[in-house]
Amino acid sequence: MITRNFFLFLSQNKFVKTKATKWGPKLGAKSVIAGETIDEAMKTVRKLNERGLTCTVDHLGEFVYNREEAIESAEYCIRTLDAIAETGVDCNLSLKLTQLGLDVDRNLCRDNMMRILETAEKHGNFVRIDMEDYSHLDATLELLHELRRRFDNVGTAIQAYLYRADKDLRELKGTNIRLIKGAYKESPEVAYQKQAEVDRNYFNIIKTHLLNGSYAAIATHDHQIIDQVKAFAKENGISKDQFEFQMLYGFRSELQNEIAKEGYKMRVYVPFGEDWYGYFMRRLAERPQNVTFAIKGLLSK
Ligand code: FDA
Repeated sequence: MITRNFFLFLSQNKFVKTKATKWGPKLGAKSVIAGETIDEAMKTVRKLNERGLTCTVDHLGEFVYNREEAIESAEYCIRTLDAIAETGVDCNLSLKLTQLGLDVDRNLCRDNMMRILETAEKHGNFVRIDMEDYSHLDATLELLHELRRRFDNVGTAIQAYLYRADKDLRELKGTNIRLIKGAYKESPEVAYQKQAEVDRNYFNIIKTHLLNGSYAAIATHDHQIIDQVKAFAKENGISKDQFEFQMLYGFRSELQNEIAKEGYKMRVYVPFGEDWYGYFMRRLAERPQNVTFAIKGLLSK
């Protein structure tokens, strides 16, 4: 727990971020981040596609503080969607609303999302809104519901550590939702603190969404949950077309291959870009063993 809190603290620490950024590749970030440019990301996606894996790319960047940055970020998402279409890779887009100006001006953020979704629609593609910390939850869900009135190629993620996960999910019946345990540090007022409670709620919300007939993207590296989901789907006659598994790039690659070979859709979340710091620190917080990435990076030439 101390390690988790430590890395979550670092993930938001601007001073350390500035210092650490130039150490990125040395810290081992390279093994979990697919390069800095759209081109590099597309190359990684192509390689993953060749292994039978589908992908979602995320241009790393969080907490935009002005209009120009938010618009620039939206333009980058649009260029990424265009590149996916041009290269013909099997991949959709994940993004964060704070990147698009959620904290600056909600109307601006909505306009940015509209442009991105129009581009995705033109290319027949889908956009996933990552879920950020609790302070952004209501605004994210409100915007999603608004966007869903016009677009059906957009979904978000629901975090099982939140007490309200089940209620939020039921209101999203019929929407393609990524189901996750949750990556941020949240207070006991809003979130389960014990792993066993989070795991229990996680499997419960997966069942809810599947039994609702909705499409579920089950994003976890937890093989026990994955096995439970496979068994549950079989027992309840839920087709493999109604769900997919998702894992992060660079994590449990062997398991990713196995799942794909069994005929399940397996999507890899491929982050890229220069702003890797917050993402990398959250991964270290989740699993102290991931620190080996960092140590290996530091020791290698
Ligand atoms: P967890 O970390 O609880 O591990 C459970 C068990 O699985 C471990 O005890 C171990 O046995 C095994 N295991 C896990 N990782 C392993 C590894 N690398 N090697 C070997 N065994 C391993 N969060 C969020 O708040 N908003 C979001 O939008 C997203 N989006 C997202 C997309 C995708 C594709 C993924 C995979 C995850 C996210 N997350 C997220 C992060 C998510 O909320 C969660 O923090 C992490 O996935 C960690 O939880 P897990 O379910 O993977 O298992």
